[in-house]
Amino acid sequence: MPLAASPPAKPRDSRASPSRHAPGIADKVALVTGAARGLGRAMAIALADCGATVFVNDLALDSAEAAAHELHERGGTGEALPFDVSASAAVHLAIDALVGRAGRIDILINNAGIGDFVEFPDITDEKWTRMLDVHLKGAFNCSHAAFPHMVRQRSGKILNVSSVAGKRGDFIGNSHSTAAKAGMIGLTKSLAFYAARHGINVNAIAPGLVATELSGAMRGNAGNDDRAHPGGKARTARRDRGGRALPRLGCGELHLRRDIGSQRRLLHGLARHHERCRFTAK
Ligand SMILES: NC(=O)c1ccc[n+]([C@@H]2O[C@H](COP(=O)([O-])OP(=O)(O)OC[C@H]3O[C@@H](n4cnc5c(N)ncnc54)[C@H](O)[C@@H]3O)[C@@H](O)[C@H]2O)c1
Repeated sequence: MPLAASPPAKPRDSRASPSRHAPGIADKVALVTGAARGLGRAMAIALADCGATVFVNDLALDSAEAAAHELHERGGTGEALPFDVSASAAVHLAIDALVGRAGRIDILINNAGIGDFVEFPDITDEKWTRMLDVHLKGAFNCSHAAFPHMVRQRSGKILNVSSVAGKRGDFIGNSHSTAAKAGMIGLTKSLAFYAARHGINVNAIAPGLVATELSGAMRGNAGNDDRAHPGGKARTARRDRGGRALPRLGCGELHLRRDIGSQRRLLHGLARHHERCRFTAK
């Protein structure tokens, strides 16, 4: 797949944010999936601000290009790379083309995702398959395509964006996305164990609820019913011994108050400490 046309790389504006250029990230080549908006966009910006060349993936060329353009405007380097993470052949073609163009792939963030708030009886075969295909198979496809290049380099970082739902599982709806996110944690552990021998680190993060279009759509689907959210007051999965609903004060509730701006600051911090977060397999 040819790389999407994008504005030519601008020389980096040294006045943009020199203090943000992190030695561990500067000059690295990164691919962030689902980066046209939301958390992926925030991570792409954080990496570009730290000096990485960022390939911005999403389904549609125009939205990926718009995000890449934002990186250029901030003085960074970014390029659109549209593909569907669930389509194995397209993923391999695109990642091979990326490496052909940039010479290497140092960082892969498997972030692409879809939201779909439905209670268990309403999860159709089609919904189940799409959810697993985008999140779990998507993370597998991209990791599988990047892996041989990282092995050749004897280095690489893969970060899977799971969810607090995949760790805790105590959301009322969303059994399919919870299963997919839990699967991503299993994939992370297993691949981290395998990849460590090649100098490749594999990690996962499990965000709580962050205000994005995805979480907004979930809220919309649920008719703005609090039961979709940890900390919601209408119905929760957690009850006391007498069967009374317990209010939950978990990280999910705290994250609800986070907007993309504060999440981005958090991710800048994460990017700066990226080099220190090494997985060691004994
Ligand atoms: N927002 C939250 O509350 C929250 C909480 C926990 C985990 N997450 C996870 O974080 C990730 C990002 O979520 P977000 O809230 O920023 O969502 P978002 O909807 O704002 O962004 C997701 C992006 O992924 C893209 N995408 C969807 N399917 C794709 C595919 N098949 N191939 C390529 N791109 C695709 C979308 O077009 C979109 O741009 C998701 O994996 C999500 O499950 C989000």
